[in-house]
Amino acid sequence: MKFDRFIRKVEGVRQQTDSLYKSVHEAPQQQELLIQAVEQLSVSLEELHVAEEELLQQNEQLVEYQQEIEKERQRYQELFDFAPDGYLVTDINGKILEANQAASQLFAIDKTRILGKLLIVFVPQQARRKFREKLARLCQQTQLRDWEIGLQNSQGILFDCEISATTTNDNKANCIGIRWLLRNVSDRKQAEEKTRFVELQNLHLREAAEFKSKIIAVLSHELRTPLNAILGFSDVLLRLNKNQFTPQSVNMVETIIRNGKQLLTLINNMLDFAKLEEGKFSLNLQYFNITELFKLITDDLRFFANQKNIALNIDINIQNVKVLNDPIRIQQLLTNLICNAIKFTETGSVLVELQELNDDKIIIIVKDTGIGISEIDLNYIFQAFRQVNQTKTRRYQGTGLGLAIVKDLLNLMQGTITVESSLGEGSTFCIELPRTVISE
Ligand SMILES: Nc1ncnc2c1ncn2[C@@H]1O[C@H](COP(=O)(O)OP(=O)(O)O)[C@@H](O)[C@H]1O
Ligand SMILES: [Mg+2]
Repeated sequence: MKFDRFIRKVEGVRQQTDSLYKSVHEAPQQQELLIQAVEQLSVSLEELHVAEEELLQQNEQLVEYQQEIEKERQRYQELFDFAPDGYLVTDINGKILEANQAASQLFAIDKTRILGKLLIVFVPQQARRKFREKLARLCQQTQLRDWEIGLQNSQGILFDCEISATTTNDNKANCIGIRWLLRNVSDRKQAEEKTRFVELQNLHLREAAEFKSKIIAVLSHELRTPLNAILGFSDVLLRLNKNQFTPQSVNMVETIIRNGKQLLTLINNMLDFAKLEEGKFSLNLQYFNITELFKLITDDLRFFANQKNIALNIDINIQNVKVLNDPIRIQQLLTNLICNAIKFTETGSVLVELQELNDDKIIIIVKDTGIGISEIDLNYIFQAFRQVNQTKTRRYQGTGLGLAIVKDLLNLMQGTITVESSLGEGSTFCIELPRTVISE
């Protein structure tokens, strides 16, 4: 029941009472009329009672609603106060009317002291004109999203801020205030800046690496041609004049050939490595008998082992000998591993094993009883031009490219290499290869 209905009811009862009163006064002798009047009055009173009851009930409901609204209001106030981002309410001139904790922290100013201040005081001098323009436009546009601006707190410390704002309107759609959301994005900006810096550095490094690979490729290519001529002619010279030459001269030409061959291997390695690094290397895949190739390689290298009095043993334990791979590259990487094993072993033996893990995988193990590699050095041996413990290894020939090439080749072959070693006890290199390499 509405309040005015209740008022009307009261008014009705009052009028009825008046007219009854009048009637009774005009005809006091009429007993019946009096009784009627009293009855009517009691009915009206009852109606009034009911109306009062209804009103009371409504009142109670109203109080409940009010309590709920207050609870909601408090909830929103808490959300406002403890939101991680800064929230402000300003009038259309940017005068701060409300501010949450995050906003007062952002501006390093007490919550009570921030109220009444103009938001523009936190905008550095040089950006104020732009801010004013934005503010003026905001009332027509009703919304501003993700505007990045540098602000300064009450102590003059600058920070990057992302601002979003929405206007509030009266019921005639006039802009009467603005709600602001302020997010400190300094950390994000700094992180972005760092990422950009690192990306730029990476780009420079990539460019430098590409440049290095190109130089190596060009140089190696240019060196190879004259070197092949030197080797070829030295060979011819020796063959044609072996009988006329003194033993000393023969020795000299042989030395030229030996050193030239070493140089050629080095140049070839550099060229291969440059191509592998540039991603310009491709495998020449074909089916071949891995056991035969294995025997060929070890037979070739046994001479070097014998020269050092080291045994080169092989252990082949494989049923299916057919593999799909690039035999020249398999020879290259195995030769490198076995040569390393012989090179870094003074006494004892080198064992080369061939096994099959299952139908799809084969395993090659090169094990030696040589000088070994320390745990720290194991992290570096696959890097290009890395010869660990230079002082020691300078006794041994090489460029430190072999294992880098092995690793890159195995990558192309979808294979892996692992190494276990301890100083003074020897090393074991283990290669896992798919029986059938898929061309990329
Ligand atoms: N079997 C091994 N025993 C001990 N050290 C090894 C062995 N194989 C490789 N290394 C270490 O790893 C380094 C890198 O090997 P590699 O890339 O083949 O280069 P290089 O043979 O030209 O020195 C070697 O210089 C050596 O220090
Ligand atoms: Mg080597």
